[in-house]
Amino acid sequence: MQMSTEGMQTTAMQANQLYTQAIEDILAKTLMNIEKFGAQFPHVSLNGKYQLNNNDDWTNGFWSGILWLCYEYSHDERYRQAAEATVDRFQKRFEQKVVLDHHDIGFLYSLSSKAQWIITGDERARELTLAAADHLVKRWRSTSDGSGYIQAWGAQDNEQEAGRIIIDCLLNLPLLYWASEQTGDPKYREIAEIQAEKTRRYLVRGDDSSYHTFFFDSKTGVPIGGATHQGYSNGSTWTRGQAWGVYGFALSYRYTGNAAFLDTSKRMARYFLEHLPEDSVAYWDFNAPVTADTYRDSSASAIVAAGLAELIPHLDAADPDRPYFEKMLAASMESLINHYATIGDDAAEGLLKHGSYYVHGGLSPDDYMIWGDYYYLEALMRLARDIPGYWYERKLK
Ligand code: GLY
Repeated sequence: MQMSTEGMQTTAMQANQLYTQAIEDILAKTLMNIEKFGAQFPHVSLNGKYQLNNNDDWTNGFWSGILWLCYEYSHDERYRQAAEATVDRFQKRFEQKVVLDHHDIGFLYSLSSKAQWIITGDERARELTLAAADHLVKRWRSTSDGSGYIQAWGAQDNEQEAGRIIIDCLLNLPLLYWASEQTGDPKYREIAEIQAEKTRRYLVRGDDSSYHTFFFDSKTGVPIGGATHQGYSNGSTWTRGQAWGVYGFALSYRYTGNAAFLDTSKRMARYFLEHLPEDSVAYWDFNAPVTADTYRDSSASAIVAAGLAELIPHLDAADPDRPYFEKMLAASMESLINHYATIGDDAAEGLLKHGSYYVHGGLSPDDYMIWGDYYYLEALMRLARDIPGYWYERKLK
């Protein structure tokens, strides 16, 4: 049925109102959380309370990112002061090298010091972010086939981990692309492009589903095979991994203009959306048997919502996928807001219920995830205010 222009405008206005109400709820909760969390950082929840740490996990940048988004939206100095205090802690973490021997340096420093630089132009924050990019480059492993990859976890001499790449790493690549833009040194971008291309070739399967991780021979670079870490099985598709692919390839396209990355983001998005249950929010793995007790991963759907908001504007107006992506983005957001968000529960610390961290590992299978909260807010900000987070430089609102 053709909707009238007036009808479409009403629907868009209603959606915007829904998004704005959700953001207002988050602003209030975040002020409460600034007091509650103090100098600590939220990670995932246990019994409805965030587990706090002293900035020693891969997730700590998301709290900074939430604070910066709240500041950019509201211009309320309380968010800015809290966000800047987190960047000071990221400076200390970097100087003391606290749990930085992994690939998640982009998650940590894009949303903390890079965000500060984007918003305030602070030179110290820029220097810290560039130092973080140099640190990430140290995980590059050259192989005798003339190529290489970014090792996900562990030390270089860790035999089990030396050959492993993971799909999540796509969200760490914007830090490298940005470092080349800033310094004029192409090495960061070259590494990022090889990593994105390897991820495309080896982690994305022919049917557009994905492995979570993939192993290479660490000396020769010969591909060995895919495996999971947090998914249901080695051959399954962990929904959050698929989500990192949707968003990560769209970002690699933004930086490189490589049409294969755009196409891969689209294909992975279609797979994700076509395999969703009725309420448009993902279970934790697309191959997990579905019963009444199967866990969701609302964080995967939040990542895809933000990723679709990045992807859609890259598509031609006449792209046949565009209306489908737009419809599904709206449906996912409506479902997240109405059935997963903690709107109205003023005491809730988290923003989104029913995220899964690591189901087989028994870690927070049905809880708040700080990255779920971050991407949910980023998606809302993109949709309501065109504020796209801190993956790339852009004009301030
Ligand atoms: N990047 C780790 C995770 O998504 O759980």
